Amino acid sequence: MILPSANRGTRCSVQRRVPWMALGVAALASLVLSACGSDGDNNGVAYSFAVLGCNRVNPPIPSDDPSTANLPHLQRTLAEIAAMQPPPNLIFLTGDLVLGLTSDLDTLRSQLEAWVQLYRASPAGQNPAIRLVALPGNHESLHLGLEDVQCGVSNPGAEAVWLDVMAPFIAGDNGPTAGGADQLETDQSRLTYSFNYRDTHFVVLNTDPVGAVASVPVHWIADDLAAARRDRSIRRIFALGHKPAFTPPDATPDCSLDSNPDMRNVFWDALTGASGTAYITSHAHLYNRSQPTTPTQTAVTKTWQVVAGNGGSPVDTMWAASGATPYFGYTLITVTTDGRALLTGYGRNFDDSNYLAPSPAQQYPTTVRDSADITVP
Ligand SMILES: [Fe+2]
Repeated sequence: MILPSANRGTRCSVQRRVPWMALGVAALASLVLSACGSDGDNNGVAYSFAVLGCNRVNPPIPSDDPSTANLPHLQRTLAEIAAMQPPPNLIFLTGDLVLGLTSDLDTLRSQLEAWVQLYRASPAGQNPAIRLVALPGNHESLHLGLEDVQCGVSNPGAEAVWLDVMAPFIAGDNGPTAGGADQLETDQSRLTYSFNYRDTHFVVLNTDPVGAVASVPVHWIADDLAAARRDRSIRRIFALGHKPAFTPPDATPDCSLDSNPDMRNVFWDALTGASGTAYITSHAHLYNRSQPTTPTQTAVTKTWQVVAGNGGSPVDTMWAASGATPYFGYTLITVTTDGRALLTGYGRNFDDSNYLAPSPAQQYPTTVRDSADITVP
């Protein structure tokens, strides 16, 4: 099976083989992801990373699921990602891994610990060549306080639980500490931080720091992006955070960064000003790719926003209402040997009468749902 290229007709192609046989599907498929002129190793793939977010269940929690993850879809996704040839070098989990959203910190801890067990037992977790980077969502950071039952409120102690249980999946510690220009209430240095992987600069963002729900530390971000731009070894920048900067038109508004529009505008203008390739996010339970602009810089269309919030949580009802067929899945970014950034969105339909139902590959095959060259010069 050859699926369409995003750039059909250009001079050569980058190919990634997905061994569908290993996934229980009869045919071996070669997926032509894009075209970009290279005869390098791994069919022109220098390295790659996968992203998924929002896989936690809705109440009631199944009695056999202490992780509160959507088991059939998380396990399928992690198996499919691990079976890619070559497998991605990094996997980002962009929040809402577990149901959480509770002031009972023992419950939050036990859900996260069960989730870690689940991951470690998965084909991705068993592959030491794949590095998982996880970041918290509102379900790991907030609880349903009476002060704001719509958005949730900061959950004192939840950050400490995350930092303890998820320590193996935290990839940096250079983020902002308490106080400072961003006037943070708590130390965010291992919740919001940056790191370099080969020639890519990754900025990992906690979008619900204690005392500042639905925000990111824009002063620290501006300084970090400026430093990355000065580093001549860095050829592209990706930011990742749980809450979108812009709620997609087919998503239900839900206390995302655009609920603080002035802060959001500063964040987005900084990212586009640094020629960031993409902000990859979740929280809205759908898949959406766009190139938004802010009211302050309406002429600047550059950085992509990719909402990859269709990891397995109940999908946004507005997504189906828009006429789309909702699906669960994950996103792959491939950096080619000639420096391009290629996006492939994978997805599978599911039993819309029971989103937690088993997901046999024969009945619900995973296919390419989106592909694009998202390189930003
Ligand atoms: Fe969320």
